[in-house]
Amino acid sequence: MTRFDPSGPLRGSLRPPSDKSISHRAALIAAMGEGEVRVVNYLEAADTLSTLGAVERLGATVERLEGAAVEPTYRIRGVGLRGPASARIDVGNAGTLLRLLPGWLAGQEKGRWVLDGDDSIRRRPVDRIAIPLRKMGARLDARDDRLPPLEISAAPLHGITYELPVASAQVKSCLLFAGLLAAGETTVVETLPSRDHTERMLAAAGATIERNEGAVTVHPAERLAVGEIAVPADVSSAAFFAVAALLVGGSEVVLEQVGVNPTRTGLLGILGRMGAEIEVEPQGERGGEPTARLRVRPAALRGVEVGGAEVPLAIDELPLVALAACFAEGTTTIRDAAELRRKESDRIATVTSALNALGGIVEPTDDGMVIAGLGGLRGGAIESHGDHRIAMLGAVAGLASREGVEVHGMEAAAVSYPGFEADLAALLGAGA
Ligand code: S3P
Repeated sequence: MTRFDPSGPLRGSLRPPSDKSISHRAALIAAMGEGEVRVVNYLEAADTLSTLGAVERLGATVERLEGAAVEPTYRIRGVGLRGPASARIDVGNAGTLLRLLPGWLAGQEKGRWVLDGDDSIRRRPVDRIAIPLRKMGARLDARDDRLPPLEISAAPLHGITYELPVASAQVKSCLLFAGLLAAGETTVVETLPSRDHTERMLAAAGATIERNEGAVTVHPAERLAVGEIAVPADVSSAAFFAVAALLVGGSEVVLEQVGVNPTRTGLLGILGRMGAEIEVEPQGERGGEPTARLRVRPAALRGVEVGGAEVPLAIDELPLVALAACFAEGTTTIRDAAELRRKESDRIATVTSALNALGGIVEPTDDGMVIAGLGGLRGGAIESHGDHRIAMLGAVAGLASREGVEVHGMEAAAVSYPGFEADLAALLGAGA
């Protein structure tokens, strides 16, 4: 159990850890290349270390360069698009690895792979990738046809046009990887845009990618030419300190080199509508992704309606929207977010029960939550359910609460942010 007491202001600046989504893609795409690739600022967290382990099992070599403690730099020697060796792969807790990797493996000429992971991963559906991959000709087997372990056997693929039934960058990315090895073109139609890191990185590696309104098409490729990849800081990790600084009086937090790809910054728009004034100062591009310095101070918040196209752009930050909404005046309604039930935990259930345990009034709905703005939270105890974002949500709630919060299962934070408590202590120390 870890306790987070009502705190004084958070002050100071930090660069949050590197982006998890981009790090997963960097390791996978580097492994698809043929030469050596340097990945600068790779995220060293449980999920993305699972991906490095996975590409090693497939035959890539992974080396951490010495003296790179500040900017963890890895040298990855790829196996080539058509070179992954048969393997059993432990994806740990990493849903992104579970959904992306099969796209690369399914179209190989030979080989067989089994992907499995922890208890949470065994509840994450894989039918969302199995259905379209099978339409391309893939041979896949899953438990109850929808859950890991997932077995993939090499098979010749052909391109398809597939309309995503729900916005999912994981499914889109999986199909784009599969399209590299399929005969003909593969088009993914998305009614609502989702994060586009895969498209950016594949295009930078020389793949032929066409992006039109609502659709992305990939052409088959002989090889990828992957250059150095630099990973920006993760806006989804920065979000915890941004919301903490909004809620704790007297705070002023500066978050450096945060990736502000517009397909990831839905939270900034939502908080802006709630009344926050977050300064966003552009800091140039890093690895083909725009970055910025975010400066956050407290603000009086009001309830808002959240739904539609902004949901995929803020999907991982909706738990924080719900927390901020408890501190606002007026009701906040989150809709169109049934996907929250399919994350590391059922986040409609876990966020609702956590905030209600702290004195909130949150009602779950089929596709979201209705949150009463109470102008604050009492505090209490919550359970992370092994979900990193729920653990860190509890910590932020504790600082801003009247009585403090005990988080059971705080260690889950290491999935995306192993240094979370140390960084938080630094911001609190600077405010003391
Ligand atoms: C991710 C996509 C999102 C997100 C997840 C990371 C990615 O999932 O929630 O944390 O890196 O592609 P979905 O594709 O299921 O929406």
